[in-house]
Amino acid sequence: MTKGMSYEEFNASLRDSSARKRVLHSKGRTFHVLLSQQFGRPEIESLCDTATAIRRLDRHREGRSFLRGVLAGQRIMQLFSQPSTRTAQSFLAAAEKLGASSQMVTDLSTSSFAKGESVEDAVRTLSSFFDTIVVRHHEDDFATRAAWALSRSHRPIPVISAGSGRSQHVTQSLLDVYTLRYSFAERGGIDGKTLLVIGDISRNRAARSLAYLMTKFDQPRVYFVSPKEFVPERDLLAYLEKHGIEVRVHETLEGMLREHGRRIDAIYVTRLQQEWDTGEPKGERGSSDPYVLKARYRELIRPDCVVMHPLPRVNELPDEWEEHPGFVVWRQVRNGMWIRAATFAMVHGADEEIRARARRLELLP
Ligand code: CP
Repeated sequence: MTKGMSYEEFNASLRDSSARKRVLHSKGRTFHVLLSQQFGRPEIESLCDTATAIRRLDRHREGRSFLRGVLAGQRIMQLFSQPSTRTAQSFLAAAEKLGASSQMVTDLSTSSFAKGESVEDAVRTLSSFFDTIVVRHHEDDFATRAAWALSRSHRPIPVISAGSGRSQHVTQSLLDVYTLRYSFAERGGIDGKTLLVIGDISRNRAARSLAYLMTKFDQPRVYFVSPKEFVPERDLLAYLEKHGIEVRVHETLEGMLREHGRRIDAIYVTRLQQEWDTGEPKGERGSSDPYVLKARYRELIRPDCVVMHPLPRVNELPDEWEEHPGFVVWRQVRNGMWIRAATFAMVHGADEEIRARARRLELLP
């Protein structure tokens, strides 16, 4: 960590792969969790193993009581300026599994932000009472500012982004990769697989974070289908290309599936993010919406194609898909709790101990 850094220097370090560790790690381990690019393959594998260890320990009497001691006495602040069902509740459940207590602020007008308090002063104050801050905010850089302010303070505590504006939703992408890894366990893992992402890519932080995280695997392909207003932005495409990922961008879903459907291993459906529209909503809605994954498209894809959605969904992934063998959306939701518990354990240096206990109880190889 670098105490003397300006915010501009801190932010620039996040864009530089060789400098990133210096600002996001402490004592040789991940401290702040802000963006997908910060993770290397070994860290992703360890995090997934920790999530599996926690999941299995939680089903075991001795394991459950061990887990409750891991973060006992720790306090977690959850600051959410935007609505959330899954992320907020899964972070709360994850903290409880590890014995930590949580407080949640969802209406920032009840805090001193309403009196003009800066992000820096607010999070430095919160660090007097809490051991971790989880933050979802409509501004892309709020979590980064919080991490920077805390890294300069005398009581640095980890900041975990729970969704940053339109830019990133890092823990969602980690749970998505955890789900993909499980789904492809008998098919050689994520390496070499083809992921199709459908929807509002430019404004969907979950889609963007997952695409970034795919670069950590060997030779995956990432295909996109989106309305022309919401095609993936140049920064994302350039990053994928720089990392040797085969990328295709199509405007028509049916055309993409007719041409490449049998080659696609997983489909990640997202909704139009109309909460960001100003004026008239953009993009079509209703049954004629060309970005709905219609039930009849099942005949264009592999029978074992994995079908995912970060939720909430509107009309883009009809209920009929729940009968499809590769439908893993509810597994994604449940995995959110395990991966977020593993994330808490990682930033507090408790992950090795958890994996070791799971091995001792023969719950992990
Ligand atoms: N996937 C996701 O972020 O859902 P919530 O908005 O309900 O947290």
